[in-house]
Amino acid sequence: MKIAIIYDSITGNTKKIAEAIKEACNEHEIIFGDMDTDINEADLVFIGSWTDKGNCSQKVKEKLEKMNHKKIAIFGTAGFGGSEEYFENLYQRIKQCIPQTNEILGHFYCQGKMPLTVKDRYIKMITEHPEDKKLQVSLENFEKALTHPDTKDVEDAKEFARRMIKRCV
Ligand SMILES: Cc1cc2nc3c(=O)[nH]c(=O)nc-3n(C[C@H](O)[C@H](O)[C@H](O)COP(=O)(O)O)c2cc1C
Repeated sequence: MKIAIIYDSITGNTKKIAEAIKEACNEHEIIFGDMDTDINEADLVFIGSWTDKGNCSQKVKEKLEKMNHKKIAIFGTAGFGGSEEYFENLYQRIKQCIPQTNEILGHFYCQGKMPLTVKDRYIKMITEHPEDKKLQVSLENFEKALTHPDTKDVEDAKEFARRMIKRCV
């Protein structure tokens, strides 16, 4: 089976998950790269994105919209991803970009650390609006995200990849 693993990653979190998936697919022929990668020959496509304003990146969206008659497995990382509910919402949104000729096999998300500039922004906002409890929660979430993707996320991604492959054979 030919497996494509394509991803869009700005700071490396989604790339780390893509590499874990690649490792789990090592018995197959692999096509690996960014959104410009030619995936025509692939039987199964893992497509991964960072989260931008509550959705997948624009590049991933454009790639998905052009895909047809593929088996697709979605993966992604998100800064605010502390809950399954948040991840499920991300999945529901990305699903809407995928033409119905494709078959979606499953999805995997984990949290991904955010740049320190985000923390600086929260601290500045908290100083200006100390009464805003949501900002405090955002700051706590920032700290939680700092260790992700961690070893467990990487192992979970590999397990996800093996499950997706089983659905194809
Ligand atoms: C401009 C920008 C917007 C972001 N918007 C969101 C968002 O809406 N929801 C979220 O969970 N994370 C958001 N994040 C966090 C990233 O999606 C997260 O850190 C991700 O793991 C980055 O992946 P990468 O290292 O592969 O680029 C945003 C980050 C940036 C820089």
